[in-house]
Parts: sequence; C-alpha cells; structure tokens
Amino acid sequence: MRKAFLISFTIVLFLNCKKAPIVPTGLVTQKAMVVSARVEASKIGSDILKQGGNAFDAMIATEMALAVAYPFAGNLGGGGFMVYRKADGTTGAIDYREKAPLSAHADMYLDSTGNVIPEMSTVGATAVGVPGTVAGVFEVHKKFGTLPFETILKPVIALAERGVVVTEKQDSRLESYREIILKVNGDSLAFPLVCKAGDTIKYDALANTLKRIAKNGRDGFYKGETATKLAAFIQRKGGFVTVEDLAKYEAKWRIPIAFNYKDLKIISMSPPSSGGFTINQIFKMMEPYDVASFGHNSEKTVQLFTEASRRAYADRNYYLGDPDFVTIPLDELLSDSYLEDRMKSFSWNKATKSADVSHGNVEIVESMETTHYSIVDSEGNAISATTTINGGYGSKLYSNELGFFLNNEMDDFSAKPGVPNMFGLVGAEANSIAPEKRMLSSMTPTIIEKNGELYMVVGTPGGSTIITAVAQTILNVYEFNMSMQEAVNAPRFHHQWLPDAVIFEPEGFPLELKENLKTKGYLINEERTPIIGKVDAIRVLPDGSLEGGADKRGDDTAVGF
Ligand code: GLY
Repeated sequence: MRKAFLISFTIVLFLNCKKAPIVPTGLVTQKAMVVSARVEASKIGSDILKQGGNAFDAMIATEMALAVAYPFAGNLGGGGFMVYRKADGTTGAIDYREKAPLSAHADMYLDSTGNVIPEMSTVGATAVGVPGTVAGVFEVHKKFGTLPFETILKPVIALAERGVVVTEKQDSRLESYREIILKVNGDSLAFPLVCKAGDTIKYDALANTLKRIAKNGRDGFYKGETATKLAAFIQRKGGFVTVEDLAKYEAKWRIPIAFNYKDLKIISMSPPSSGGFTINQIFKMMEPYDVASFGHNSEKTVQLFTEASRRAYADRNYYLGDPDFVTIPLDELLSDSYLEDRMKSFSWNKATKSADVSHGNVEIVESMETTHYSIVDSEGNAISATTTINGGYGSKLYSNELGFFLNNEMDDFSAKPGVPNMFGLVGAEANSIAPEKRMLSSMTPTIIEKNGELYMVVGTPGGSTIITAVAQTILNVYEFNMSMQEAVNAPRFHHQWLPDAVIFEPEGFPLELKENLKTKGYLINEERTPIIGKVDAIRVLPDGSLEGGADKRGDDTAVGF
C-alpha cells in the first residue's frame, strides 16, 4: 500500500516537474520584440514597431538594417524566405530566393571532361545568382505594409551614413576572410577590410543605393542606374547576371509546410527551401517516442534524432528542388505510413549506415553564414525570416559603386548530381541548374502554435545545419522544458545523411556519450569543432509576454518593449 502510494506520488511529482513553468532567462518584454544578429538591426526593427508599424514593416526595416550592420550575411545582393502568422491565425510565406540567370545551364560549372570546376560556383562573379531580397521586401510591403516605405528605410539610411561599430566577433571573422576578399576584388576594394573592434565604419555607397530604392521603389534596384551598374559590374568580372535577369526577377508567395507534432502545429518554409520538409520528416519520425523522458542530449535523444535526420536528409537531397521546375511527391514523402516505414530499420543497438539508406562519401565544412531574425508585434503578428548571400560575404565580390557583396548562391544548386556542394550536401537531378530556376535551400524560418495560439518564432543560419539546429531548439523548449534563451544557447549536434558522421559542438557532450555511440557504430567527426547555427527566437510566455532567445554564439540581440 505504502509502496503503491510512493510510486504514484513519484509519478505525480515527475509529471508536475515536466509541466513546471519555464523560468525565462532571456529578455522579456510585454508587447513586441525583434531578435536579430546585430543590435542595430533589432533596434531599428523595434523602433518601427514603436512608431506604429506592424511586424511586416519591422521585417523590411530589419532586413535592410542587416544589409548595413551585418555585411557578412545581411544583404541587398542575396535572397531569403519569410514565414508569417498573422494575429488572426492566417499563415503564409514569401520566397525571395535568388534565381539562376537566363544564360544558366545544367553543365555550366563543369569542364570539358564533365568534372566540377573548383570555386566557379563559390567564389567571384561566376557564382552570383539573381538577387531577390529587394523584390521580397517590396512584395511584403505591397501586401502587408502600413508605414510608407521611405519612413521604414529612413533609419536604415541614417545608420549607413552614421556608421556601424565593429564588434570583436566581426573583427575576428573579417580576419579570416580578408585574403580571399582581396583576391576576388583586388586592391581597389572600397570595403573596409582593415578595421578593428571599436572602429566605426560608414557605408556611403550603400546609403546612396538605399536612397535610390527609397525614391524609385523596386525599380530603384532592378532597373535604371543600380541595375545597369550591377549587371555591368558582374559581367565585367566574368559573371552571368544581365539587366534582363534583374528586370525579370519576381519574389513569390508560397504556401508554407504545416504539420502537427504532438500538440504543436509547426509552420515552416516550403520548397524551394528544404527546411520545412526536412523538419517535418524529422519530427514525424520522432513523434512516436517519449522524447522528454530520454533527457536533453542524452544518448537516446542523440541516437533517435540522428537516425531521423539521416533518413530525412537522404530524401531531401534526392527529391527536392524548385517546385516551379520539378514535381516533388510531398504528400507521399510526408505521409505517416511512409515515415513509419522509413524508421523500421532503426535500432537502439546499432547505427544505420548511410550507405544502406543511399550512397556517397563526402566531407562537411563549417558554415555560419546566412542570418535569421524573428519578430512579434503588439497585435500578435509574427514573422520568421532567414536571409543570405550563402557563404560568409557571399561570393566575396563587392561592388564599390553600389556598396554591397554579391551572393554565391549558385553553389546551392547541384552542379553535378552526386557531387557535394560546399556544405557537403549531395544533390540530385531535382536540384540541377536551369535558367530562372531557384536553387534548393536549407533555410528554415519557422513559427509554432500551441493550442491554436502563437507559441514560438525561430530560425538560424548555418547552411545544412540550419534544419537540425531549428529542430533541436524547438525540442529544447517543448520536450526539455528550457527557457527560450537556454534553448538557443544549449549545445547542438548534427547529422545530414552524407557524410555519415555525427558532429558535436565542442562543449556539452561528454566523452562517455561519444564512446557509447561509437560502440554502436556511429561515426563521429572529432576533427572539427564547429559552431552549429546561431538561433534567434521568440517564445510567447503563458501571460502573453515575450521571451527572446538571442544566440550567445554571435552578437545576436533581442530588443523590444
Ligand atoms: N545558402 C544556404 C541555404 O540556402 O541553405
């Protein structure tokens, strides 16, 4: 009797523990919040909200401010994706991903013997896709904006003219890119490469480009002076983007991927991003398990997550591409029966070999490029946006006249099926190059509902690791009862089918865990100790206030009121 009482008491205690309210450890604000990679951008976005702008106005301001304050990944010369959930519960997404130029073709990065030409899709003008960011923000403004575009851009232009203070992290990052940026641009480069933490950098050329955009709308970028200068510059440097490519570029509204995980509804980016698809598969493969009881980053959690990721990335790499060009069997690939079947080969005792899921052998590279921001306004509208020029400083090609770096997004295509891109991702025919096609992405801007209410806004940079970093952050809050800030800071791991290796961040994974996994046949990449993602997120607390999660791995900052 006494024993039975003790057991039920322990069970009640356990359940209560699981439900114990999470104590926030990040910035908490009552009404609205912006979390981004730079304090200047978060502040400009938050100020727009204070002025009465909505989350979409703040999205435009933040996106443009990142182009000034965070040239490493913020951009006019790249593209991105944004998922939204309005206060009334309606959801949607915009795709402002770069496109292949009209002259592009499947073999454009291959030599006469059919081999991929090193660096042609990653470095310099040949790597540049048609930028989509400016079209994206104008499309958002047309549909949802409330403040005049000039009003939104005013503080951004002022920031470019006033200048941005270099941070320690920016300083050390720039150090490792200096040589390659100089190699691509030569000595006449006007981008400040020799600067130190604490210096203030002014961006006058960029301010002038922004002024033309403020004055002439999207034509201030895609036509006229900016377009003529941009196309001439890229072509002079050997690239393919023409004035016709720029004039033809359109951003596209898409229907996001939405699925349930236990009592959450997760809304994320649909193709041409693989983000929503891949987290959908991962979560559905994990759903039958009591993940919370396994514990955060425990052996069982790492194993289950790794096996789900292995299978999901294999499908991602084979089936996904631009939905305007390829037919993707989404319903079949996301069906319960299919995913159940995929996990039949999973065993707690032994690692599945990626070679048995498919084939290949490649090497992963560390990547922290791309940037993400999350916004919630005082009405409860939420946006989750990830934007990129692909590599750090993109193709490294910088237009002195226009004041920004150009993307190297063409590398996100599969230059040759079966050959890995710079993230080690092995693509297939579905992601081959064609004129005006969008290259497959891993960007995973995501919004989550619980019981029909806004629960979380989340996303991250990190190339192929974006998907797993977003998924682990959601699990940290939902399954492992962490605050938003703790969830963002917690150590992460990654597996992407190929290469068949689990990578772990340097801190937080005991030797014993790794040894046990090795005994089961897991291959562990121990040579590299990369940072996996830099997540910027917002959680809605039970009383309706907001907790920011600004990743400690970067200069990321939450600002709100
Ligand atoms: N350029 C990284 C991505 O789109 O996934």
